Amino acid sequence: MKSWTITKFKAAKGGQKTACVTAYDYAFARLADEAGLPLVLVGDSLGMTMLGYASTLPVTMEEMLHHTAAVARGTVKNTLVVGDMPFLSYQVSLEEGLRNAGRFLQAGADAVKLEGGACRAELIRACVATGIPVMGHIGLTPQSVNLLGGFKVQGKTREACEQLLRDAKALDAAGVFSIVLECTPPDLAKAITESVSVPTISVGAGPHCDSQMLVLHDMLGLTEGHVPKFVKRYAELGETVKAAFSTFAREVSEGQFPAPEQVYPPTGFFSESSPASDG
Ligand code: KIV
Repeated sequence: MKSWTITKFKAAKGGQKTACVTAYDYAFARLADEAGLPLVLVGDSLGMTMLGYASTLPVTMEEMLHHTAAVARGTVKNTLVVGDMPFLSYQVSLEEGLRNAGRFLQAGADAVKLEGGACRAELIRACVATGIPVMGHIGLTPQSVNLLGGFKVQGKTREACEQLLRDAKALDAAGVFSIVLECTPPDLAKAITESVSVPTISVGAGPHCDSQMLVLHDMLGLTEGHVPKFVKRYAELGETVKAAFSTFAREVSEGQFPAPEQVYPPTGFFSESSPASDG
């Protein structure tokens, strides 16, 4: 059993704040696990960060399951894995949504996440009744970017705030174990956090949530182009990797790599000064 369970994550509400990241592959999942992070989300943001799509909309179930299984193989000691249900995998029918949610658990996830408020209550109840823990996600919901008119801060009017409060309460009542609040003002996030029984997870929703989540590529300096205001860069891996590639290329072209310490002992059967020949 991992050191973090869904029950423990839920019980952390109001206590020590927790930090979560997205993860998309075995290598980074293993590092998150070794750092003892409570939870990684295999976000459909992998469409942009890993696959080079312009949005999350083209991401398929097969792509999500492939990455979820890799992440699950890297998180064996500590970290919970949440699989993000991609566009059209849960909106078309309850039956399809339930079956696809179950496929994430079969791939190794501990829970699923889906976007939307009160309109998802029936599916969430069905998942929970089937033994599938669900993380809710309201505020900026990128799968609805075309309806929302872009990647913008949500909850800008009193009506919008009241709707988000109603949605959070509906998700809580339906049985989610946590709720992502993406790009919402901090006072609204505080009001929601105080109104629900489960941990809220801020993705650009300010300091009052129970947990904070950052997209891996943003926080590690691997993202190209615009970085949202709420992101803090904890490393500049992009620059580090580019410098390593350039140094490698220079050392190869100048004959410094491989050096003797990177070469196996010779067999002695061939002359090293001339190419090996058959016979
Ligand atoms: O796909 C994702 O990475 C997400 C998080 C930003 C919550 O949905």
